[in-house]
Amino acid sequence: MSQLKISGYGDDLTVNKIRIGDLTPREHEEIELSKGGQNYSPLENVVVSMVKDSSTLIARKPDPSDVSRYVESELLDGLCCYSAVNQGQLNKIIVDSVIHHLKVEKLPTVPRSIRHKYMSAFLLAATGITGMDKVVPKVAGVESWELTFKICRRWGYKIKGIPKDEGLIIGATGNFHGRSLAAVSMSDDKDSRHGFGPFVPGIELVRFNHIGDLEDLFKRKGDYISAFMVEPIQGEAGVIVPDDSYLPKVAQLCKKYNILLAVDEVQTGFGRTGANFAHQLYNIEPDIMGCGKAAGGGILPVSFVAGKKEVIDVLTPGSEGSTFGGYPLASVVGTYSIKALIDLELAKNARIMGKQLIKNMKSIKKEFPDKIKEVRGKGLLTAFEMHDEKHLDGHAVSLGLLKIGVYAKETHHSTVRIAPALTITNDQVSILSDAIRTVIKGL
Ligand SMILES: Cc1ncc(COP(=O)(O)O)c(C=O)c1O
Repeated sequence: MSQLKISGYGDDLTVNKIRIGDLTPREHEEIELSKGGQNYSPLENVVVSMVKDSSTLIARKPDPSDVSRYVESELLDGLCCYSAVNQGQLNKIIVDSVIHHLKVEKLPTVPRSIRHKYMSAFLLAATGITGMDKVVPKVAGVESWELTFKICRRWGYKIKGIPKDEGLIIGATGNFHGRSLAAVSMSDDKDSRHGFGPFVPGIELVRFNHIGDLEDLFKRKGDYISAFMVEPIQGEAGVIVPDDSYLPKVAQLCKKYNILLAVDEVQTGFGRTGANFAHQLYNIEPDIMGCGKAAGGGILPVSFVAGKKEVIDVLTPGSEGSTFGGYPLASVVGTYSIKALIDLELAKNARIMGKQLIKNMKSIKKEFPDKIKEVRGKGLLTAFEMHDEKHLDGHAVSLGLLKIGVYAKETHHSTVRIAPALTITNDQVSILSDAIRTVIKGL
């Protein structure tokens, strides 16, 4: 076996004589290409090295005068890790809780087969913020969706009385629920499915925001359907906001046909859309919901399923489990991520700043109607879609923004999502908007 030596911290972190602080963006890319799986295509020629404040990253780019070196510059973070860092990077409330927990409380990890006291705090906080009866902690966002899926299936057999193994779960076209096999079985995105079949059976899709399609399906197959699983606003699809009447009608139909309404709030939750959870914008009450991303405040992956008692209660010992779901440190991070959401009034700030950002983007659209087709969003989950033409490529916009100090990333080729930290200030909204205007003007 070859010798492996790891030493130092930060830029001095050295693995087998390769000091991380010496690597140029190109060398980082080469290591990723030769040693990592190619399941992402990150922005070229930039490596983030640290955060400066809640929404500013320090990034390394090639030195224009010597590509064997790099220069550091600031990037305003317009994406905040796909809404995982709603509370802002290194949020003090959460970081203090972690430091205190590790240094003073000293209980990082125990398994679920013995109770720990922090789980109670997390369950009280998570049921409190969601208004749901019960919560089951998980780790990644997709796991909260996957567990929701399992619970809905079991509810269908145990409570609704669907004949064994004949249950159906309905999803919406354009959905994104993550990358597990069940999640891609529900997806209609070719890239995420290609080569991964056979897929999980018992899933059907209806067009998102077409209530007639859902009603028709419920009429035909309602006795076999246990749940409709839907994102209140489709984030990955390009911030697709449904008509105001859509979700209330969905909720009515689900009630009428005794079908669970399961919402995926992994991206839309934790204040992102201007409400603590996006479904609250539409005054509906889901039966079960999945949360993730900002449930861990950008410090740890924390997710959970929250639901009504009679739904969550279909779980029994042995039917579900996760070593790190709700372990002590995650329970602390989850609890204080909720505290930050409340104490910093993040949903309110998302509402106020989002209004400003959307207004600015609409005025850019007005200035360049031949370039921007649509501006969409709720709170600080926003996007602009360009006309589908070659020179209006979304990736070119991301690269243009990067050049002038803003990090954002296209979703599909012609839409650029802008979803900054919910702690963003008025001045930063102006910087973001000015940068977008400059890049669009130059296209
Ligand atoms: C709505 C939704 N559900 C689930 C997921 C999956 O979350 P994770 O990547 O943490 O597994 C995502 C990720 O973007 C998402 O947007």
